[in-house]
Amino acid sequence: MTHNEIILDDDSFLVSETDEKGIIKFASDDFCKIAEYDIDELIGKPHNIVRHPDMPRAAFKDLWDTVKKGDIWSGFVKNKSKSGKSYWVYATVYPYKDKDGNDGYISCRTKVVSRKEIDYYDKLYKSMRD
Ligand SMILES: Cc1cc2nc3c(=O)[nH]c(=O)nc-3n(C[C@H](O)[C@H](O)[C@H](O)COP(=O)(O)O)c2cc1C
Repeated sequence: MTHNEIILDDDSFLVSETDEKGIIKFASDDFCKIAEYDIDELIGKPHNIVRHPDMPRAAFKDLWDTVKKGDIWSGFVKNKSKSGKSYWVYATVYPYKDKDGNDGYISCRTKVVSRKEIDYYDKLYKSMRD
């Protein structure tokens, strides 16, 4: 079903940056456009502002466990826009330290091109929901 889904452009590049607690510090223009938020509505908010209810907790536990160890996490994520539409991204999350030595995280997201992959992860995540 695509009527309630936003399909990214092939060259969409959605970037966001958080502090060590997942509070949004930066979001790119593409992120704001697809998520349907103004930048001011995102800065200072927890990143679960775009969480889709179909996403299982285990996916985010894996993300956080991975980046807290200092490793890079990649995965398929279904997000929810301000008006309630869903959009799929392939995300890569990188840990870093800012100039004051605080942990921060950056996520770079691109379009999931394959409909088959979207269907696969949609079913998988719904089966994992808790
Ligand atoms: C850099 C970074 C980017 C994130 N991007 C998303 C995202 O696009 N969508 C999402 O639902 N959670 C994202 N998260 C995970 C959220 O912080 C949060 O753990 C998740 O939404 C689950 O919400 P909850 O912890 O309140 O259950 C991101 C975390 C980090 C560190």
